[in-house]
Amino acid sequence: MDKALFHLIYVSTAREELSVAELDRILESAAKYNAISGVTGVLLYAGGTFMQVLEGGEAEIDETFARIREDPRHASLIVIERAPIAERSFPQWSMGFRRVGATEAAAHPAWAPFFDPGFCARELGAKPGVALDMLKDFVRNQREGRFG
Ligand SMILES: Cc1cc2nc3c(=O)[nH]c(=O)nc-3n(C[C@H](O)[C@H](O)[C@H](O)COP(=O)(O)O)c2cc1C
Repeated sequence: MDKALFHLIYVSTAREELSVAELDRILESAAKYNAISGVTGVLLYAGGTFMQVLEGGEAEIDETFARIREDPRHASLIVIERAPIAERSFPQWSMGFRRVGATEAAAHPAWAPFFDPGFCARELGAKPGVALDMLKDFVRNQREGRFG
């Protein structure tokens, strides 16, 4: 039997406005490590905040998150949900990525309470299902991880 799958969703705040080159470096190392440990997921960047979902084996998720949590490029990490899942939502991506600008956010009026204008951890913490819907929706038309 395959080992149990877990996902972990968190929100964090970038220490400073990150350039495209810096975001690209983060994604490069994420894709490299995640491919080795069988971790998949998506990273969103909006208004100086990140929201990321990691999915994979429980130990691999926890090891990856322990490394991410120590990264000085962001702070104030808040776990929105850590839970078993039946299947992966992003099997095709070692790490998908989308920068969510004001225009994209405004296209979803129902989600306005979850942006302030970055991801609002308090609101999302109360509605982890919305967090996952956002992660899915914002990368729906992306063909691959990296920039689009
Ligand atoms: C917002 C953010 C998301 C990240 N996502 C991942 C990830 O999914 N997987 C990963 O291995 N590293 C990720 N990293 C990078 C790790 O924090 C770390 O830099 C990387 O694992 C390399 O570790 P090393 O420098 O000790 O080799 C992320 C970093 C940031 C700031």
